[in-house]
Amino acid sequence: MAAPDVADLSLAPAGRARIAWADQQMPVLASIRERFERERPLAGITVAACLHVTAETANLMRTLVAGGAEAALCAANPLSTQDEVAAALAGDLGVEVHAARGEDADAYVRHVQALVARGPQITLDDGADLLIVIHASRPDLLEGMLGGTEETTTGLLRLRALERDGRLACPVIAVNEAFTERQFNDRHGTGQSALDGILRATNLLLAGRTLVVLGYGWTGKGIAERARGAGASVVVCEVDPLRALEARMQGYEVMPALEAAERGDIFITVTGGRDVLRREHLERMKDGAVLANAGHFDIEISLQDLRALATGGMQEVRPLVEQYDLGGRRLNLLAQGRVVNLAAAEGHPAAVMDMSFANQALAAEELVRHGADLAPGVHPVPDRIDREIAGLKLASLDVHIDALTAAQEQYLSSWGAPG
Ligand code: ADE
Repeated sequence: MAAPDVADLSLAPAGRARIAWADQQMPVLASIRERFERERPLAGITVAACLHVTAETANLMRTLVAGGAEAALCAANPLSTQDEVAAALAGDLGVEVHAARGEDADAYVRHVQALVARGPQITLDDGADLLIVIHASRPDLLEGMLGGTEETTTGLLRLRALERDGRLACPVIAVNEAFTERQFNDRHGTGQSALDGILRATNLLLAGRTLVVLGYGWTGKGIAERARGAGASVVVCEVDPLRALEARMQGYEVMPALEAAERGDIFITVTGGRDVLRREHLERMKDGAVLANAGHFDIEISLQDLRALATGGMQEVRPLVEQYDLGGRRLNLLAQGRVVNLAAAEGHPAAVMDMSFANQALAAEELVRHGADLAPGVHPVPDRIDREIAGLKLASLDVHIDALTAAQEQYLSSWGAPG
């Protein structure tokens, strides 16, 4: 195992406390960890993970180690690392960690490359950087790989583009698209934590404000629903007519971003695309508007345009709030335009990550058991895994459900004519 590269190993005790706190909200992952300890399905397998280095991720890493994996971890974003968690994992939880909050672009790349150098048989990604770097710089490793998993929509977009070009050379399990991931991560996880990040950074009151959500996928829906619940007037901007119609039917105002630019007090981009808020929008915004991004990459708000327009300069007016002076009009950018829910808050609550990371752990096990039989390409999480996780989560919530009677089963599976 190579030496870890973390900010400060002496932070480990605080990290352990944080990991234990999250663990109490992660009963599904805990039950998988107990089984992994008994069965050791990952024995001898090198698993490299490029994920946000949080307490929740630490519990996933503990689960992989319990299953017998040699585990290494780097950050999926330079601003999301919890340094005390990185220290605890590197210190005594047996994981090789390369991550420090605020690391620069060179350190980020060096850290990803340190994981590539381990020659992993399985990769776990949140954004696909690790697997893409392997394809780009060490294709020789792909031969020995069982496969990878992917946690985000953005990562899957990149991997599917690689697949379309005929270059994806191993199976990838699309954890992001499991029902027990997508329904809860995007809507409940980012929906709550993006607002949490904005409120922690600004201490604004949402009631009475106009909040503009750009992008009405599951994340946009979750944010809009919660912002409305907190008393904000919500405006939705979309390019997809189906989603736009859905937003309108949910009772939100729907309009082009250029119009919304003049109306909004708070803007949140969650499209996965680039330059969603650019010069023409920034030029129209009100004095004091707040700009945040909850999409994976920091490209949804054009920082280039913002900087070019800021003739009066920029100052950090609160931690993670950069105020740009556009000749008397002030625009407040949160967390440098990076994922606000992770940079200014703690990401998805542990109870949500419980299901995502249960998917990750079981997908890794699936790759060990069946990876060799899977063709290169993006594959869904098997339905039985999704159902197992839902069942375990329900049990942890002490929720019981009905089962069909034999007559009902028979009725539902027959084609009998009416009457
Ligand atoms: N992605 C979003 N929230 C997260 C969290 N709490 N831990 C790891 N990855 C995340």
